Amino acid sequence: MTPATSLFTPVEADLQILADNLTQLVGNRHPILYAAAEHLFGAGGKRIRPAIVLLISRATMLEEDITPRHRRLAEITEMIHTASLVHDDVVDESNVRRGVPTVHSLFGNRIAVLAGDFLFAQSSWYLANLDNLEVVKLLSEVIMDLAAGEIQQGLNRFDTNLSTETYLKKSYYKTASLIANSAKAAGILSDASPEIAENMYKYGKHLGLAFQIVDDILDFTGSTDTLGKPAVSDLKSGNLTAPVLYTLKEQPHLEVLIEREFAQEGDLEQALQFISECKGVEKARELAAHHAKLATDHVATLDPSESRQALINMADYVLSRLY
Ligand code: IPE
Ligand code: IPE
Ligand code: MG
Ligand code: MG
Repeated sequence: MTPATSLFTPVEADLQILADNLTQLVGNRHPILYAAAEHLFGAGGKRIRPAIVLLISRATMLEEDITPRHRRLAEITEMIHTASLVHDDVVDESNVRRGVPTVHSLFGNRIAVLAGDFLFAQSSWYLANLDNLEVVKLLSEVIMDLAAGEIQQGLNRFDTNLSTETYLKKSYYKTASLIANSAKAAGILSDASPEIAENMYKYGKHLGLAFQIVDDILDFTGSTDTLGKPAVSDLKSGNLTAPVLYTLKEQPHLEVLIEREFAQEGDLEQALQFISECKGVEKARELAAHHAKLATDHVATLDPSESRQALINMADYVLSRLY
């Protein structure tokens, strides 16, 4: 399920190596944990995060080939992401991911929690072995942010006073932090200047925010089939995202429906109707476009290359993606 575009062309061979390595890296300490982790790696995913790490690695190493450390960073990034999905699916009680049953629905919650921990721990070990303290600091902060974001989201369920600011902060923790910090780390492994490293951080941050806003839109507009994960699940579970927050500003009755947690028949349908009338999705799309534009501004500071162009095109892909 990788994007059917030429987006990844400059790093396609790199991503093939990554796919082969990921399963091996998980190791075989315990057959059940291995099976659980392998299950999701086998199903693939879009591999956006390692693609970004590899593209930045190439775009900042124009004279030389990328190093084994760049490759390992891309692998660690995808491991951290996958671990967060295993835990997120337990928290969200989601049964499908990447078009296959989730780890907890196949193996049970206990194994899923342990398999997620196992993946986080493995990624930390590989991270430490990069022997670069700055990179270790960046990526370990990500692991804290992921947990903070998940906790914040849990605390804010059905809270109609949630501000757009708080929503974006949570989105940073859950999604943008990993993309931003791994993007910066790729620059650091290339010995890029502090300015370039900071621009890569900002590129990843804004691209990540756009990515999460679009994911939140897709929860309303996509189908379980195309997404490979359940649709219309956020609102139902009280996770108020951009289309809902915009609608709340214009349609006060939506507040009533959310506050009673859609307890009465027809509440959810009524809420969806309000979102459609108030153009909540369209407004959320503008917010995503705003962040995608900011992302491209920051990558424009790199010297021109095929990889830089792919990073710029990534912003358009994020806005137009359908799964
Ligand atoms: C899913 O990320 C979680 C979000 C941040 C929205 P992806 O949509 O990148 O998931 P995979 O890796 O392609 O399955
Ligand atoms: C994604 O949040 C972020 C994670 C880090 C797990 P979501 O809850 O929107 O992700 P999906 O929609 O389940 O993929
Ligand atoms: Mg989820
Ligand atoms: Mg989602």
